Amino acid sequence: MLKKAKLEIDNIQYELPIVAGSEGERGIDISILREQTGCITLDVGYQNTGSCLSSITYIDGDNGILRYRGYPIEELAEKTSFTETAFLLIYGELPTAEEKKAFSQRLTENSMVHEEMLRFFDGFPVTAHPMAILSTMVNALSVYYPQYFTIDFATETFDLMVVRLLSKIRTIAAYSYKHSIGEPFVYPRHDLKYCANFLHMMFHSPVKPYEVDPDIEKTLNMLLILHADHEQNCSTSTVRLVGSSMVNLYSSICAGICALWGPLHGGANQEVIHMLEEIHRGGISVCDCIEKAKDKENRFRLFGFGHRIYKSYDPRAKILKRQCDMLKNKFQLHDPLIDIALELEERTLQDEYFISRKLYPNVDFYSGILYRMLGIPADMYPVMFAIGRLPGWIAQWKEMHDTKPFKIGRPRQIYVGPTIRHL
Ligand code: SDX
Repeated sequence: MLKKAKLEIDNIQYELPIVAGSEGERGIDISILREQTGCITLDVGYQNTGSCLSSITYIDGDNGILRYRGYPIEELAEKTSFTETAFLLIYGELPTAEEKKAFSQRLTENSMVHEEMLRFFDGFPVTAHPMAILSTMVNALSVYYPQYFTIDFATETFDLMVVRLLSKIRTIAAYSYKHSIGEPFVYPRHDLKYCANFLHMMFHSPVKPYEVDPDIEKTLNMLLILHADHEQNCSTSTVRLVGSSMVNLYSSICAGICALWGPLHGGANQEVIHMLEEIHRGGISVCDCIEKAKDKENRFRLFGFGHRIYKSYDPRAKILKRQCDMLKNKFQLHDPLIDIALELEERTLQDEYFISRKLYPNVDFYSGILYRMLGIPADMYPVMFAIGRLPGWIAQWKEMHDTKPFKIGRPRQIYVGPTIRHL
């Protein structure tokens, strides 16, 4: 029996259905609100508004819980590969041994980028931000594979679109790095798995062979798994909204990449490193950095801290912090930025401003430090976030198209501008 919410407007009572999720979350269904009451709701930043019912990711922000299709993130990060988790998010179940082999084979077969696309790089200055390159090149994939404009989930069409995107985003990302350092592109190899192949394309060169360290490969798998989905965040909601116009998947993902680039979202990991480097250079002290973040007079935020949903420690940050310790000890790394990060975290967790607002380290606080340990430059961190988030975007895009009735996304507004006037 569905419970009802009662609403009274101008002494008239209305009843609105309450929907309940599988973990007990409740929402008031306002689909008929305007038709019945003439009113709409107003919720700047959609802090209290659900856009959909979804079976992909569950987050309990108060208790630091994150699960993909019911599996705790801690188990997936420890026991699966990124491509297995990608399969789980998109198709709803972990792959059988046979499915895993076929998926891996198709990813390998689709790892090359069309040779004509390499000429695009000639037009980018070496200083081009790799997120600008990534969004351009991903959208350009629709030029090379126009037959996939249709929203057709007949398995062959959709499956091929999925492996093409998952595989080629990695190659495009590695090529954008090679372009920035003036080195020749390194083609993917068919004998390397997903993450090893990416590391190979990034760091191998004809004059300096690159051997993939298993712990580095494991760390990259873990980083990508931890970024793979996060329910209706800014970039995922962008992919859904853009996709709801029935535009093709490549263009929907391009929009998601652009939204993720913002420093309040996926671009925060790059800002965290810039912040730590600024402190290390002596440009600002840890204490001054914290005070500046608390000062309402400026827009500076403590990057890597705070979250719309997590009002406790981001479970992803916990795992990444542990992985930092492991790599630091294994490779005897003495990165001063790690010590600065630990001091920042320690001081904020004792600071009333952060405690009262429940601001804790989020996924971006330690991810940049780990990417730095892998030898990846700071402007590539949002690109790494996009590679990780791609399966989540694809899964959410598909779920939206599978939802009946299918509606184009079109929020309303309350107009507060001038009333009618004449020239
Ligand atoms: C990601 O949504 C997702 O799931 C995103 C993500 C994902 O996986 O997709 O988890 C990835 O984007 C992580 C967040 C990365 N961004 C940053 O690290 C940037 C710094 N963080 C803040 O900009 C902020 O915390 C947000 C954007 C993350 C959340 O913003 P909200 O929910 O709108 O919170 P808010 O801005 O309303 O802050 C509430 C209060 C405000 O102070 P008051 O007005 O109450 O006095 O907390 C303050 C804010 O000023 N605050 C901060 C702060 N974050 C919030 N103050 C200083 N430094 C910060 N980092």
